[in-house]
Amino acid sequence: MKPTAAIILAAGAGTRMITDLPKVLHEVCGRPMLAYVHDACRSAGITRIIDVVGYRQEEVRRVFADETDVTYVVQAEQNGTGHAVAVCAETLADFDGNCVVLCGDGPLIRPETISALIEKHEQSHSVATLATAVLDDPTGYGRIVRDAYGNLEGIVEHSDCTDEQREIKEVNPSYYCFDARQLFAALAQLKPDNVKGEYYLTDALQILIGEGKRAAAITSVQPEDVLSINSRQQLAVVSKMMQHRIQDRLMSEGVSIVDPDNTWIDARACIGKDTIIRPFTYIHGRVRIGERCSVGPFSYLRDESVLADDVVVGVFTELKSTTLGTGTRTRHLSYLGDATVGEHVNVGAGTIVANFDGENVHKTTVENNAYIGSGSILVAPLTVAAGTQVDPGSVIQQNNTTPVAGDA
Ligand code: UD1
Ligand code: MG
Repeated sequence: MKPTAAIILAAGAGTRMITDLPKVLHEVCGRPMLAYVHDACRSAGITRIIDVVGYRQEEVRRVFADETDVTYVVQAEQNGTGHAVAVCAETLADFDGNCVVLCGDGPLIRPETISALIEKHEQSHSVATLATAVLDDPTGYGRIVRDAYGNLEGIVEHSDCTDEQREIKEVNPSYYCFDARQLFAALAQLKPDNVKGEYYLTDALQILIGEGKRAAAITSVQPEDVLSINSRQQLAVVSKMMQHRIQDRLMSEGVSIVDPDNTWIDARACIGKDTIIRPFTYIHGRVRIGERCSVGPFSYLRDESVLADDVVVGVFTELKSTTLGTGTRTRHLSYLGDATVGEHVNVGAGTIVANFDGENVHKTTVENNAYIGSGSILVAPLTVAAGTQVDPGSVIQQNNTTPVAGDA
């Protein structure tokens, strides 16, 4: 592979989402949609990732502060996707190689698609290569226009289509690979002659083809890999597709999911083999679950919760930032927040950890082999010593206050 840089367009406001949050920060299965695009680039071997940011750019940068391989170019005014790429001209002035261009609102991009795009681009000696896909409902997407022989002619945006062009089902997912120098030369010629009065990246393709330069397309991309997010409705559809991918990966790693349609698992969750996730379970955040656990039905596991091996979390049980040791069971109707529970502890039905005193959140420790009787309230901060038997219906309190950060 030639030197390859990726430009990811992420400056837009997301007007059609009706939102104050930058569109690319809206979450898909617990992660901002832009995070998936970064990951796909990395997995495809791209080490130079440039995000074009604009609308509330400080927030975007803050969210990705840990991703130190991402650099930023600011597009102060959002004058269209062509303009967004053009603002990178200075940054890439000395760069001679492949320029992959993707949109931050397309988190379903797969690394395999990026690799196929680059391979096709290099093998066909093209100056512009794009992916296309056929959608049953192409509404909103740019349409791929071909001549009578099937050769690429260009892309027409939905809002600029004639009635006839609107019938075209082959669409532009906005996955491109360009020759960097040719791309910037074409972008310099863009004109905002369209319904929206914007500089369209898609017109760069038409310019290059018009100059007699070679353009190619990969057409093998599946519809479920190309959908992008412009509205709340599309956010829900794409999230569901991502959820399907997450569950599929977990199942291929040996996790049983009894009812995939009625289970929601965060992209960041790790689950060990032979664990069973029962229906109506919601796992949100960086939750780690060991092997041979049983979770659900109707369990809610929240961020930073950790289950060791052979743990049972049952019906109507919520865990928040809570660790359960090997063989511990909390089968029914409980809330455990900010608790560190040891091994082989039995948490009786209806046990509640009162971790919030109205102002601060406090920690609770339950040591190995303790037995918490049903209907008990453990008022944090609290330590229940190893082997302790707590009578059913107890309210246990202890004076010692060091709050922990966070909410209940
Ligand atoms: C774009 C494509 C369309 C394609 C679709 C696929 C163009 C003109 N159209 O349309 O052919 O089918 O994606 O998803 O390229 N952005 C900026 N700066 C801007 C404008 C947009 O950074 O000035 C960013 C947005 O934040 C977004 C991405 O570019 O992440 C795409 O912009 P969007 O407005 O969503 O374009 P579409 O109408 O979806
Ligand atoms: Mg879009």
